[in-house]
Amino acid sequence: MAAARWTDEEARLRTAICRIGKLSYDRNYIVGADGNISARMADGTILITPTGAMKGFLEPHQVAHVDMTGRAIDDGPKPSSEVGIHLVSYQERPDVKAICHAHPPHAVAMTIAGVDLQMPVIPEIIVTIGGIPTAPFGTPGTSELPETIRDLVRCSDVMMMQNHGSVTLGANLMDAYKKLDMLEHTAKILWLAHVARGGLEPLPEEDVRKMLETRAQLGITTRNTLENRCGLE
Ligand code: 13P
Repeated sequence: MAAARWTDEEARLRTAICRIGKLSYDRNYIVGADGNISARMADGTILITPTGAMKGFLEPHQVAHVDMTGRAIDDGPKPSSEVGIHLVSYQERPDVKAICHAHPPHAVAMTIAGVDLQMPVIPEIIVTIGGIPTAPFGTPGTSELPETIRDLVRCSDVMMMQNHGSVTLGANLMDAYKKLDMLEHTAKILWLAHVARGGLEPLPEEDVRKMLETRAQLGITTRNTLENRCGLE
C-alpha cells in the first residue's frame, strides 16, 4: 500500500511496529522470523507484522492490515500465521491496543522446565503483573492455539504459551513491549535463582498480601494475577 494513502495514525503505528520489532530482535526476544507484533487502530482494524519475515528488519510498507476476522483489507503483505492470538486478545480486551508475541529464551525455557512463573517471588512483579500464568500447549498456526490463551487474556496482560512463547498486551505498543521486557528479565532472575539454590521459594503469603495492598496507594490499576487469581485456583 502506498505510504501517501496512510492516515497519520496508520503511518505512526506502522513505524512503531517496525521499531518494536527491531528492539525485540536486538534484545534477543526473537531470532530469525520469530514473533509477531500488532496494533489496533481507532477504526477497529489491526496492523500486524507479515508472516515469515524477520521482524527486526521490517519497513512500514511491509506491515499487514486486517479486519477483526483476520481478513486482509488491502492488497498488502500476508498477515502473521498467529493472527488468531492477536484477534482473541483484542476480542476479549477492548482496553488493549497493542500486542507482542515473542520467544524470550529464559521465559520459554522455564515453561519447558516446568518452573511456575506464577509463583510470587519478586516484589516489583508482585505489585505490577502479579504472576505470569502459562497456557497449556497448543499447536502453532492452528485455531487451537488462540483458544488456549482466551481465559488468561481476561485476567492478565502477560502470559506464556507452553513450550512456545510469550504474549504481552498493552495500552500501546511501547506498553506491550515494556511487559515483554519485564517478563524476560523476571524469568532470567528466577532462572538464575533456580539454578543457584536448586528451586524457588515463594515469598510468605502475608508479605504478598501487604505488597498487593500497596497497589492502590501507588495508583497501580493494571490486571494482577495474584489479586484476581486468574482462574488458577
Ligand atoms: P509469523 O512469521 O507467521 O508471525 O510466525 C512467527 C512465530 O513466531 C510463530 O509463532
